[in-house]
Amino acid sequence: MTSHRFMPMGPLKGAIRVPGDKSISHRALMFAGLAVGRSRIAGLLEGEDVLATAAAMRQFGAQVERGEDGVWSVDGVGVGSLLEPHHALDMGNSGTSTRLLMGLVASHAITATFVGDASLSGRPMKRVIDPLAQMGASIEASAGGTLPLMLRGANPAVPIAYRLPVASAQVKSAVLLAGLNTPGITRVIEPVPTRDHTERMLTGFGAKLEVAEENGETVIAIHGEADLTPMDVTVPGDPSSAAFFMVAATLVPGSDLTILNVGLNPTRAGLLQVLRQMGADIEEIGPREVGGEPVADLRVRHAALSGIDVDPAIAPAMIDEFPVLFVAAALASGTTRTTGLEELRVKESDRLATMAVALELAGARVEEQADGLTIHGTGGEPLPGTPEGADVATRLDHRICMSMAVAGLASGKGVSVDDTAPINTSFPTFTRLLREAAA
Ligand code: S3P
Repeated sequence: MTSHRFMPMGPLKGAIRVPGDKSISHRALMFAGLAVGRSRIAGLLEGEDVLATAAAMRQFGAQVERGEDGVWSVDGVGVGSLLEPHHALDMGNSGTSTRLLMGLVASHAITATFVGDASLSGRPMKRVIDPLAQMGASIEASAGGTLPLMLRGANPAVPIAYRLPVASAQVKSAVLLAGLNTPGITRVIEPVPTRDHTERMLTGFGAKLEVAEENGETVIAIHGEADLTPMDVTVPGDPSSAAFFMVAATLVPGSDLTILNVGLNPTRAGLLQVLRQMGADIEEIGPREVGGEPVADLRVRHAALSGIDVDPAIAPAMIDEFPVLFVAAALASGTTRTTGLEELRVKESDRLATMAVALELAGARVEEQADGLTIHGTGGEPLPGTPEGADVATRLDHRICMSMAVAGLASGKGVSVDDTAPINTSFPTFTRLLREAAA
């Protein structure tokens, strides 16, 4: 474990470019690995989570290479032709790799074992096991429906219509990916919309997929035994990585920072809306499309924030951004209340409990409820910071670590975290960009 103290810093200035979107990077590797022929991927996130997906796709028989120019090339094996992995698939910290690849294996006549780190091994897999078992896969999981688990795919698998019991893009995607090699039409019914990168990109790779609204729900139908055709993908910058800089530049007086090339898919852009509601000054410059996704540069200037009651309906569109929103709330004037966030308890860590303890250690006033946090802000005064010798427990959770780094910038004497290594799962250039922006 590498502990580190994030010290207060001066204003964030200039322009930075955050790495490629994690969700889109995973999907680009998977779908390219299923196409017949060579796809190229520019702007791929080279974080540990995505590299775990790349390694798994190699075990399934795809050729995945990084070119010297940083563009990745993938020669796919074709839907229906995945090879059986020789070794257990090490998913590291990555829930997305695990759940989406389980879907892929579920409709192939192969068996794969999935293992992961201590954080991932505590996360619920029953939510994907249930629909995949209905499709015919057989799964032996550890007690409590967790990793390590072994999945034997069914061929042919059975098409199902599955209504998502939790708002989860990972579960939706797992079922759709299983549907790719299943005869007939597999349907997912989404009562609450979640990120739609799978739908957008699968269509780009030539899958036949229909999205319809029925009785206020979204119904996604995928036609099975699909042939995917290779394509070139450009991955936009990750709004979930940009989030740390959006909040940092908002909080540190004198900041005027432009974050280039940020993905603004409406199913991901909730934080922007909530920060603006709190009084943030964020300008979208040059809206355009990159890789089938809306993108813009974001100019963020320091602004005073006011606490609000966050509408729980917006949660799926900013599900990964709550830890850093809690930091923003801790420096706002007045009280911020969040509700409807039970899902945060089953992320890389229990993000409600972990952030409540972390922010209190840094001197914030926080109350933890079953489904959210109530945070009484300082009115713009820096948080005191963590006492000497006391580290925030980051619990193998990259977003806790980066959120508390932002809290450190906006503190009197700095914030110490017990381990910065998890940052490499999603944002290996985080500390360098922070130093550059504050220089
Ligand atoms: C993701 C979906 C979300 C999100 C995760 C990435 C995806 O998870 O938290 O970081 O790429 O589909 P859930 O599906 O569990 O909400």
